[in-house]
Amino acid sequence: MKGNRCVKELNEIVPVIARCRDQINALEIDSVREAIKTTSSDGGDGTGADAPGTVAGTTSAAGVDAESVWTGKVEIVDLCSGFGYLGMFLSELLPASKVSKITLVDKSWPKHNAKEVKKHHLNCDHLYHEQWPIRLARSSQNLKNGTDTRSMTKRLISGAEGPVIMLGVHLCGTLSLRAVELFNANPEIISIAVKPCCLPVKAHSYRKEVWTLGGHEIFARKVCGVGKWKKGKWIGPPRTHLEGRFKLWCECLAEGTDIGAEGEKSTEQIQVQADHFQNTYIWATRPYGVGGNKPSLTTTHLEPNQQPGFGREPTQVKTVEAGTKKEPLCPPIPKGK
Ligand SMILES: C[S@@+](CC[C@H](N)C(=O)[O-])C[C@H]1O[C@@H](n2cnc3c(N)ncnc32)[C@H](O)[C@@H]1O
Repeated sequence: MKGNRCVKELNEIVPVIARCRDQINALEIDSVREAIKTTSSDGGDGTGADAPGTVAGTTSAAGVDAESVWTGKVEIVDLCSGFGYLGMFLSELLPASKVSKITLVDKSWPKHNAKEVKKHHLNCDHLYHEQWPIRLARSSQNLKNGTDTRSMTKRLISGAEGPVIMLGVHLCGTLSLRAVELFNANPEIISIAVKPCCLPVKAHSYRKEVWTLGGHEIFARKVCGVGKWKKGKWIGPPRTHLEGRFKLWCECLAEGTDIGAEGEKSTEQIQVQADHFQNTYIWATRPYGVGGNKPSLTTTHLEPNQQPGFGREPTQVKTVEAGTKKEPLCPPIPKGK
């Protein structure tokens, strides 16, 4: 790993590492244990009813006897991890006595059953050194694919022995929506840190999409942006016009983050990139067992005959069923339990 590359990566993730460490150190083990007990005894949905596949009082959605096996350690899931710089720093810097595993989720990892590692795959050799103080694991998942997110939720979130901390740094476009949606839908996740990168592409706006995230509506036409970087050069209109949209995008994501009655959320500007405006961190925390009560992410489309102007709210929206071909980019994530 080259030194200057490391410094560049570290610059952006330092705030996330610091926050993660503080949260883990402040975690009240007894109250989490109590919440796990309550959650597993009411079937995992806080209603007292048995959730499908669970046995009340004994088994979590993943089939684990959560109450008795929880070691008091949290698990960390890093979404769109890339090569895994954040995970590697966390492994070195977090207390190993309080974290059992850091899972790096990215669509570019080779699948575990892959016969060969292809050119487009991330090389994962570095994850499996015995020296990592906290175990690093990889999971090859496409966050925009319903099957992948369901299986990921089952194995990494509801299948976790205890609380999960979710991270998503440098999330492009609608991947930020996916991250917040996962947080909203899964009460095992006690905190999330999201650092959005670029805006959703204009195609969402042309399709007149309206996302409903945690009960909050986000109008694609207000937050989508034109232009992209190509070989270090910006292709598109002056980037300054995107700044306001980016601010609104981050506010909408924060607004749509479900923290229940006792959680906390905020957005924070930390100038980690001198020449860019994408310096917003979205933080949210909530007690274990809270969440999963808001409707999952939906994408609706304005009727074709509507041509609303910027800033005007639609009077009529058409709901598109989850997983239909009309909604290829943002299928709602089902609850998975
Ligand atoms: C901009 S990088 C962010 C990497 C890392 N978090 C960082 O801060 O350096 C984007 C990563 O997201 C992954 N990615 C893009 N789309 C994805 C998707 N739909 N599902 C899962 N991973 C995705 C890519 O493979 C890539 O590694």
